[in-house]
Amino acid sequence: MSDQQTNGQALIHARGLVKHYEDGRVVALDGLDLDIAAGEFVAICGPSGCGKSTLLHMISGIDRPDRGQLMVAGRDLATMSGGETDHYRATVIGLVFQLHNLLVNLTALENVQVPMLTTGIRPRERVERARDLLDRVGLLHRENALPPTLSGGERQRVAIARALANDPRILLADEPTGALDSKNGERLFELLVELQRNADMTLVIVTHDQHLADQAQRVVHMLDGRAIPEPDATTR
Ligand SMILES: Nc1ncnc2c1ncn2[C@@H]1O[C@H](COP(=O)(O)OP(=O)(O)O)[C@@H](O)[C@H]1O
Ligand SMILES: [Mg+2]
Repeated sequence: MSDQQTNGQALIHARGLVKHYEDGRVVALDGLDLDIAAGEFVAICGPSGCGKSTLLHMISGIDRPDRGQLMVAGRDLATMSGGETDHYRATVIGLVFQLHNLLVNLTALENVQVPMLTTGIRPRERVERARDLLDRVGLLHRENALPPTLSGGERQRVAIARALANDPRILLADEPTGALDSKNGERLFELLVELQRNADMTLVIVTHDQHLADQAQRVVHMLDGRAIPEPDATTR
């Protein structure tokens, strides 16, 4: 409560976030405090079950906290209406999951266009933008490929292009390299870093891989539904 005034310019501001499942038998978030500034590249680490995915779901508006304050880009996620949440998810947030979730009977180019179908962008511009995004992830030459014919790393790159479709301020990635071998995981990570640098985007990546996490500007360690406070942020 008293932290409301110290918010400053944090793009993501969480205080005392609590999320329970199964009528309170499962405590996924247990009073989490976290600030992430605009343009930051943060890696979130912690053991399985400590609440990392739950946190990303809260930030992305997929789900709501039971208690606590969550402000993102000046919006109070606890009080947004359904329509506002849909708009927020479509325009502020880009999401990448461990498994790409691409539509298997749409081409790479079509998959990247899906988030733009609800924004009123003209079809010609939409295709142009999708091609530009595929180019940025190095996959323009596979624009007509169906996901089953792409490698795991290529599918994740298409998923990243799709997440960037509406030029989000915040890209959230939940173990995006988890299904890749270490070489492809590293490549994908490098791509995310490069995109973040060029697009002035805030990037929050959940990863188990300490080596990858160390490349972030800051590592947030989570345990039992909370962020472990750090005496000083490590800047590299
Ligand atoms: N939809 C759900 N229903 C019930 N329990 C859940 C649900 N989502 C997550 N949990 C539980 O909440 C805890 C935190 O999960 P999660 O955020 O997925 O952790 P992590 O991503 O760090 O592995 C775990 O105990 C998990 O089993
Ligand atoms: Mg998870």
